[in-house]
Amino acid sequence: MENEIKEVGVIGLGLMGSSIVAAMMMYGYKVIALGPLDADIEQGPGRIMHALNESRNQGLHHYDVADLESRVVYTRNYADLHNCFLILECVTEKAEIKRIVYEQIEAVVSRDAIVTTNTSAIPITILQETLSHPERFIGMHWAEPAFTTPFLEIICGPKTDINIAESLYAIASGWGKEPTLLRKDIRGFITNRLMYAMYREGFFLVENGYASVEDIDRACRNDAGYWMTFCGLFRYMDLTGLQAYYHVIKDLFPTLSNDTHMPKLIEDIAKQGGNGVTNGNGFYQYTTEEAKEWEKVFEEFNYDINNLARKYPADIVYKRLREMSPGKI
Ligand SMILES: NC(=O)c1ccc[n+]([C@@H]2O[C@H](COP(=O)([O-])OP(=O)(O)OC[C@H]3O[C@@H](n4cnc5c(N)ncnc54)[C@H](O)[C@@H]3O)[C@@H](O)[C@H]2O)c1
Repeated sequence: MENEIKEVGVIGLGLMGSSIVAAMMMYGYKVIALGPLDADIEQGPGRIMHALNESRNQGLHHYDVADLESRVVYTRNYADLHNCFLILECVTEKAEIKRIVYEQIEAVVSRDAIVTTNTSAIPITILQETLSHPERFIGMHWAEPAFTTPFLEIICGPKTDINIAESLYAIASGWGKEPTLLRKDIRGFITNRLMYAMYREGFFLVENGYASVEDIDRACRNDAGYWMTFCGLFRYMDLTGLQAYYHVIKDLFPTLSNDTHMPKLIEDIAKQGGNGVTNGNGFYQYTTEEAKEWEKVFEEFNYDINNLARKYPADIVYKRLREMSPGKI
């Protein structure tokens, strides 16, 4: 049926699951939002409505939020997923819990439904092991907030059918994402490998007395933070003098940290229960008022940076040249 609204299922209504439900509603799907915990059904709908209202205020969608609300079904019953063509698992980052969830999903969805996981760092190879139909299982790594950033990593495990991954890539491009396709599984996928290399160097510089946490953050914001929304590492080297990087790499790489131990800086905070702005104790200390304000300002920033990113899409040069010489490109 032409006008039939397609159904997607989101499992887990925590921080990211709620954000993904809101994204899917904005993309025009009917969403079966499955919350395995009591807290999901209590807190998820409020988070989702807040995201839909705020995104409308920011011009990300023009739907009547009350109309959108009629497109979501909150449930704890896996059988409600039976019509979904796409499943987005977004439960807590523990392989044993995710596996139990997959068993319940596979028992109810159709044979050709695509099943995805939003794992941040568990290899798809490991999660795929216990599935009955591993070929339709794919990593789909979102970033928070799911409904603003163009980021999306699509990850194949060794048993994933590349044709299914490619069709998911095409579907996600239609949502306005700029997806990346990781054809071979590797722990951390693309972005976490890049980001953790940077975190490791940050810990190294602080723990060895070269600079403070504040100064590392300041350097990060004012250097990489300025250009990374515009282009990636390799384009940046092209834009700013490839030859210089070639010479610096030779002397600098041997001095970079390759520690594999847990940095004491984060271990001490984590073992005392510190969880950043969530409880006021992180690399910085926060009063309740400050923590709330940081969260609010971060939300505002996410909308602003999204507008800037959309102004400079990955294919901006191609588009401009095509406008200048329509016949040539
Ligand atoms: N938070 C982020 O920025 C972010 C970014 C990318 C990927 N992820 C990934 O998304 C997933 C969810 O992360 P989150 O930040 O939304 O976590 P969260 O703690 O906010 O939510 C976790 C959710 O998992 C579900 N859950 C918890 N225990 C469960 C159980 N025993 N059985 C079934 N379901 C259970 C619940 O729905 C709960 O709300 C994780 O795999 C995480 O690595 C998170």
